[in-house]
Amino acid sequence: MTPQALADLHALAFSATRAWSAQEFESLLNHPGAILASNDASFALLRVVADEAEVLTLATDPAKRRQGLARATLVSGEALAMDRGAKTVFLEVAEDNAAARTLYETSGYAQVGRRPGYYIPQGGTPVAALVLRKELKPS
Ligand SMILES: CC(C)(COP(=O)(O)OP(=O)(O)OC[C@H]1O[C@@H](n2cnc3c(N)ncnc32)[C@H](O)[C@@H]1OP(=O)(O)O)[C@@H](O)C(=O)NCCC(=O)NCCS
Repeated sequence: MTPQALADLHALAFSATRAWSAQEFESLLNHPGAILASNDASFALLRVVADEAEVLTLATDPAKRRQGLARATLVSGEALAMDRGAKTVFLEVAEDNAAARTLYETSGYAQVGRRPGYYIPQGGTPVAALVLRKELKPS
C-alpha cells in the first residue's frame, strides 16, 4: 500500500481521532525498523528496535470488518518482526476500544500498563491507553 492509501484507510477506520497524513506514513515507513503487513482492506504498521517490536497502528476498512483481516495482518506483522529479531511486541490501545481489545486479548496480548488520559478524542473526554505486551515465539 502507498503512504496515501494508508492515510486514506486510516482516516476511514479512525473517524473519531486525528487522521495520520500520507507524509506521516511515508516518514514512518522510512524508519529502518518499519514493517508493513497489509492487504486491500487492512494493514498493520509495526516498528522493530533491537529485540522489541511495537504495533504503531492497525486498521481495517469499516466495510470489511469481522472477516479476520486484522488478525491476519497482525499475525503477518508479528512474523516479520520475529524475522527481524523481535522477541516481544508492545502496543497501546484505548481502554474504550472493545473491538481492538478483544482482538489483542484473543491474539495473546496481556496488559502491562495503563496511561490515564492518554487519548484525547476531538471534542470528547480523554481516554486511558492500555499498554499490552506479547512474547513472540515461533509457531
Ligand atoms: C479493531 C479492528 C482493526 C478489527 O478489524 P477486523 O478486521 O474487523 O478484525 P478481525 O475480523 O480480524 O477480528 C478478529 C477478532 O477481533 C475481535 N473483534 C473484532 N471486531 C470486534 C468487535 N466489533 N467487537 C468485538 N470483538 C471484535 C473478535 O474476537 C474477532 O474474532 P471473531 O470475528 O472470530 O469473533 C477494526 O475494528 C478497526 O479498524 N477499528 C478502528 C481502528 C482501531 O481501533 N485500530 C486498533 C487501534 S489499537
